[in-house]
Amino acid sequence: MISREELVPVLKKYQDEGVIVPSIDMIRTPQQLEGIRKACALNNLVLDEVAKIMAEGITTQQIDDVVKNVTESHGGICAPYHFEGFPKHVCTSINSEVCHGIPSRRIKLKKGDIVNVDVSTIVDGYYGDASRMFVIGETTHSRRRLIEITRECLNAGIAAAKPYARIGDIGAAIEAVAKANGVTIVEELGGHGCGIEFHEDPFVAHYGVAGTGMLLVPGMTFTIEPMINAGKRHVYVDAMNGWTVYTRDGSDSAQIEHMILITEDGNEILSA
Ligand code: MF3
Ligand code: CO
Repeated sequence: MISREELVPVLKKYQDEGVIVPSIDMIRTPQQLEGIRKACALNNLVLDEVAKIMAEGITTQQIDDVVKNVTESHGGICAPYHFEGFPKHVCTSINSEVCHGIPSRRIKLKKGDIVNVDVSTIVDGYYGDASRMFVIGETTHSRRRLIEITRECLNAGIAAAKPYARIGDIGAAIEAVAKANGVTIVEELGGHGCGIEFHEDPFVAHYGVAGTGMLLVPGMTFTIEPMINAGKRHVYVDAMNGWTVYTRDGSDSAQIEHMILITEDGNEILSA
């Protein structure tokens, strides 16, 4: 892969043409990439273990326990724990919860629920971040469809994340899929640079205009994590816990997150 040093004159050329280019620290060194890969691999393993227990009647606290135990038994740390005061080790967001749902002994999964489990892992100081949707038993056609559209949105965003494309290409690709399917995109939250810190620049909007925004170059690692609502796009934050984001109209919301690496010929999904 092209090195930071080799990229400098390339970036200079784009910058001279007025393009917003990534700062040099957004381009990972081979050593950083090795660490980030390990964090993403553990993150994926944790989600595989979560998948084994997802069933009607379990509490979201049980999900938290699995995430904590599996992460720590492999030498990792749960990034959400005490991150800006977040009280648990994972986010579990059900139905009309958009994201940042807080696990609790009092929340039991019911038949038909759709649940996002968002795992973020630190290994040797490097970060991985990814989330999946789970369906509890049989659910409605509209909920299954919402998850399928969300997956298509994510896939379209990933397909647009190519070297020397722009960050707006990702949002535009997601927006096109959402619009074609009559669902809406949450605008207040987005993907983010990830690897050296939990949340780094750039911000990756899940809507936007193709050909605008920061240049994508090999060596960048960031998340794409569209939050897709069945109803209107508007959201609010839980006034009691200060974290959980809900759809304002009470409609269902789904989210799937991957962390990717921009490569010389496209991208690689690090969290797969
Ligand atoms: N994992 C979420 C993301 O994708 C962030 C959760 S922050 C937390 O960015 F503190 F709520 F866990
Ligand atoms: Co994220």
